[in-house]
Amino acid sequence: MKYIVAIIQPDRLEDVLARLEEKQIHLVTASNVMGRGRQKGIAEVYRSHKEAGSLLSKVKLEIAVNDAFVQPTVEAILAGGRTGQIGDGKVFVLDLDRCIRIRTGEEGHEAIG
Ligand SMILES: Nc1ncnc2c1ncn2[C@@H]1O[C@H](COP(=O)(O)OP(=O)(O)OP(=O)(O)O)[C@@H](O)[C@H]1O
Ligand SMILES: [Mg+2]
Repeated sequence: MKYIVAIIQPDRLEDVLARLEEKQIHLVTASNVMGRGRQKGIAEVYRSHKEAGSLLSKVKLEIAVNDAFVQPTVEAILAGGRTGQIGDGKVFVLDLDRCIRIRTGEEGHEAIG
């Protein structure tokens, strides 16, 4: 199992979600966050609202998946998130040791989807 964390532009969220749905990836967590990349938040002001200090508004997606869904998830995020401009974001893929559905106590592959 992997835990996929992606930072994307807020205006790409709907398209990324639609592309995830197309690949049967429905369970996601999304948060409004602030961040900066290697331009340190300076060169992107023309495309997203400049926030306090050097941080820009971003959306963080978190998706826990079985191994077979890792590549489809990454592809959906790239397809929906890429404009080719700076600040498009990043995808991080982390090993996931455990997943437990609180309601039933199911674990692992049964709990994840
Ligand atoms: N190494 C990192 N660690 C933590 N968060 C990061 C890292 N790199 C990027 N981020 C997050 O992703 C957001 C978008 O990053 P961004 O796309 O600007 O990366 P970049 O490396 O500057 O690439 P680009 O040159 O395409 O802009 C940042 O605002 C930050 O929230
Ligand atoms: Mg950047």
